Amino acid sequence: MSENGQREDPLIKPNGVDSDDDDTVCLGESFFINDNYELTTFTFGSHVLQLLCLQSASTDFDLTGQLVWPGARLLNEYLSNNAEILQGCSAIELGSGVGITGILCSKFCRAVMLTDHNDEVLKILKKNIELHESSENPNPCAALTAEKLEWGNSDQLNQILQKHSEGFDLVLGADICFQQNSVPLLFNTVQQLLCLRGKKQCRFILAYVSRSKMMDVMVTNEAIQHGLKIHEVDGTRCVIANLEGVIYEIIL
Ligand SMILES: C[S@@+](CC[C@H](N)C(=O)[O-])C[C@H]1O[C@@H](n2cnc3c(N)ncnc32)[C@H](O)[C@@H]1O
Repeated sequence: MSENGQREDPLIKPNGVDSDDDDTVCLGESFFINDNYELTTFTFGSHVLQLLCLQSASTDFDLTGQLVWPGARLLNEYLSNNAEILQGCSAIELGSGVGITGILCSKFCRAVMLTDHNDEVLKILKKNIELHESSENPNPCAALTAEKLEWGNSDQLNQILQKHSEGFDLVLGADICFQQNSVPLLFNTVQQLLCLRGKKQCRFILAYVSRSKMMDVMVTNEAIQHGLKIHEVDGTRCVIANLEGVIYEIIL
């Protein structure tokens, strides 16, 4: 309460209350975060998934992971039509967002780790894992875990690898190439994950959605500069949400 008995908004400090920071308006982080997630149904072939997500982006900073992107739809269609790729595998997903790809994979894989760098996104990702696990009872699928992983962050990657020293059979990514400065870091992380398996091959399956010519070139160049081989999977180039999408397979 203020001196005159009026209730103060906890987020906004009125002008003149503190003499030394007179014009400061303090808005807590939560003021900008929309977490009015809606339970939404997605169908991929015969697989139906229900997840909490937003229907559109709400801010101009990186909360892109609060909704399902066209690349995830493309990757999930591809994986549900080619589920043999996943059968019995261990997989790690990079930039999982709300988790729609990793959660689909848990129907076929033996273990799936979903990762993201954004704490707010990790919260909804973990909620969706719980939601999925409770709906799959009494026949739960693969072990699903969520971990914080910022591309290029070796400490975080090493912590994950301490628990998974044998590495993963598959690395997955949907719509994660959209910011130029993070693409080299992404490929740095991918290279480290692929190198772990040495000759026993592990592959990175990337659903790429083209939004700029510069990024199209950058993805291929970064893969090559990190000593990786990149090829387009036949028959996967398509139009998705009015954009061109494609599945790439990337190996050491
Ligand atoms: C465009 S969204 C795609 C989300 C999801 N894969 C999909 O297709 O619906 C990009 C995701 O990558 C994550 N991301 C962006 N930059 C990252 C970084 N440097 N390290 C780790 N995750 C990152 C974001 O938090 C977000 O969840």
